[in-house]
Amino acid sequence: MNYRRVASVAGMLFFTGCASAAPVPSRGDTAVSASAAPASAAPAGGLYTVEQATRGERVFGDVCAACHGTNEFRGRMFEITWMAEPVSAFYQHISTAMPQDRPGALKPEEYAAIVAWALRQNGLPAGDREVPADAAALAGYHWK
Ligand code: HEC
Repeated sequence: MNYRRVASVAGMLFFTGCASAAPVPSRGDTAVSASAAPASAAPAGGLYTVEQATRGERVFGDVCAACHGTNEFRGRMFEITWMAEPVSAFYQHISTAMPQDRPGALKPEEYAAIVAWALRQNGLPAGDREVPADAAALAGYHWK
């Protein structure tokens, strides 16, 4: 699965033509996402709509809750695991590695909705635009 994740991230960087991208990293997608983040990264407040977060909650309940509890996606552990990286790292991980029994099976918009739900779960305010289903675009946003 690691190979699959690295390969798909490498493909994404290839298509977006990110000149600053390092060679394929040794440790999964987070290193790539971090290096792809523009210097002007902004907090992700206002990046999702209430409706999108509610859609994400529904997808989570239908798909992810078979294996995960809601609490895994907020609080201290979530902070330690994900919040040091741009929002793109989380999107990249779930959209390429989850659901574990059929990685990448959901629509990009469904993964983006789960990100919206996770932003809401972690106290970021909603706004009037939606989380884009686009890891490169999400590299510019932070969890706080
Ligand atoms: C069939 C069970 C299963 C389903 C369904 C599933 N996951 Fe997972 N998930 C796992 C397992 C097992 C791990 C830990 C091992 C790994 O990373 O593969 C994991 C790991 C993760 C992680 C990394 C944990 C961390 O914070 O370090 C995230 C994030 C995640 N899953 C999100 C999701 C989301 C979002 C969905 C729904 C789209 C989902 N998972 C569906 C089994 C599942």
